[in-house]
Amino acid sequence: MKCKEISRREFLNKAAGVIGLPYVVSSSALGANGPVPSSRTTMGFIGVGGMGTNNMRAFLNQPGVQVVAVCDVVKASNEYGHWYKKGWQGPWFGREPARKIVDDHYARKNRSGEYKDCTAYRDFREVLRRDDIDAVCITTPDQWHAIPAIMAAEAGKHIYCEKPLSLTVTEGRAMVEAVRRYGVVFQTGTQRRSSQQYRFICELVRNGRIGRLKKVVTTVGPNNKEAPPSDWQPMPVPEWLDYDMWLGPAPWAPYHKSRCLYTFRFGLDYSGGQTTNLGAHEIDIAQWANGTDDTGPVEFEDLGGEFPADGLFSTVTKVDFRARYANGVELTCRTQTDDLLRFEGTDGWIQLLKGRLTCKPESVTTSVIAPDEIHLYKSNDHHGNFIDCVKEHREPAAPVEVGHRSVTICHLGNIAMTLKCKLRWDPQNECIIDNEQANRMLARTMRSPWHL
Ligand SMILES: NC(=O)c1ccc[n+]([C@@H]2O[C@H](COP(=O)([O-])OP(=O)(O)OC[C@H]3O[C@@H](n4cnc5c(N)ncnc54)[C@H](O)[C@@H]3O)[C@@H](O)[C@H]2O)c1
Repeated sequence: MKCKEISRREFLNKAAGVIGLPYVVSSSALGANGPVPSSRTTMGFIGVGGMGTNNMRAFLNQPGVQVVAVCDVVKASNEYGHWYKKGWQGPWFGREPARKIVDDHYARKNRSGEYKDCTAYRDFREVLRRDDIDAVCITTPDQWHAIPAIMAAEAGKHIYCEKPLSLTVTEGRAMVEAVRRYGVVFQTGTQRRSSQQYRFICELVRNGRIGRLKKVVTTVGPNNKEAPPSDWQPMPVPEWLDYDMWLGPAPWAPYHKSRCLYTFRFGLDYSGGQTTNLGAHEIDIAQWANGTDDTGPVEFEDLGGEFPADGLFSTVTKVDFRARYANGVELTCRTQTDDLLRFEGTDGWIQLLKGRLTCKPESVTTSVIAPDEIHLYKSNDHHGNFIDCVKEHREPAAPVEVGHRSVTICHLGNIAMTLKCKLRWDPQNECIIDNEQANRMLARTMRSPWHL
């Protein structure tokens, strides 16, 4: 598709001409560090598959947000594996369905009942080139988080980027540096940081309700899709997909539909499997409760992680590793169907099993955090918190360093399970001590022309 690019002046004229739409001026026009001159935040969406569409709907409903662009390498498809059942007709995702959602949303609010001003792009660089866009939401597969995020920061755009923050530790650090250098607001899509329940649990731990923290047990669900077997055959690339741009910095590989939409999370070239996919949420809460948001454990050990012998999927099938922090706290992560997060201290424990909170002593459950105790960052709406922080130019609930440090633990767990060994980690210099083979796994070569 030939993408429509419009100049800032054209955009402003168009926007001002629509009934009921205030004149839009982007903050980036004044530099990323400048005040936001308008009460509106203009947004573009990069990746509008399953979760990207959810994010877009959430932002469409935020007061003061105007969605002006959507971008996806898929034009329109209902082959999103997670949602796809035999004979089932939808929903359809991709840039054209996303544009329709946006236009229909604003049309319902217009007296004329019409709106056609959201532009759909195939190439995210065209979104980043628009100087009328304040912020972008990146919901692409994991091999495509770092490059668009760094380019967005360079373009002065504020960024909401999905977890897991990165595909490698090196990518994550580069993202942190770009966000700092260009002074943009960055929210990681770890929405538990905006959950009252998780905040309460972390405040209980931080305020010593179970004594001194000794151990955190985290779990991730098993793989929820079956791999095409070892004799899988390449498929023709569908006409609705720009496959080369879907692969992006990942190595070239023949097309199979199970490689791409949704199920990319089971291919090592695009993801760290459930360790990073679900671990990015779970281990992030361990970090929050332990007060280690800007650092990490010093030791990692494989406890029997398993990887597939053949077939199209290559990520871990059984997660099992242990890490140890400098303060002595032990963190374990394992595959388990029933979602369990458990904190053990010298005087009791707190656990969340399948969403149900129980504690020992029981009184901890109803404990009140007094005004003079530790209170953690309060947000009850992850998307709304991002927009507030863009307007006020302040730190959001899940800033880039936090997202980077949490997923670093997942990456190191994967490295320990792959090499079936024990690793010593230097969280300050972000390197593995005395193991060159493991250190090389902190980064990956990107397929030309893409690079960090
Ligand atoms: N926070 C959460 O709870 C949560 C939940 C689900 C997914 N996610 C994250 O969201 C991301 C996407 O996952 P998903 O389940 O939505 O996958 P998906 O396959 O449904 O969607 C990804 C979309 O990105 C598109 N895409 C790929 N390369 C692109 C590019 N270069 N430019 C523009 N678009 C591109 C794909 O075509 C696809 O439509 C992942 O990182 C995942 O971890 C987060």
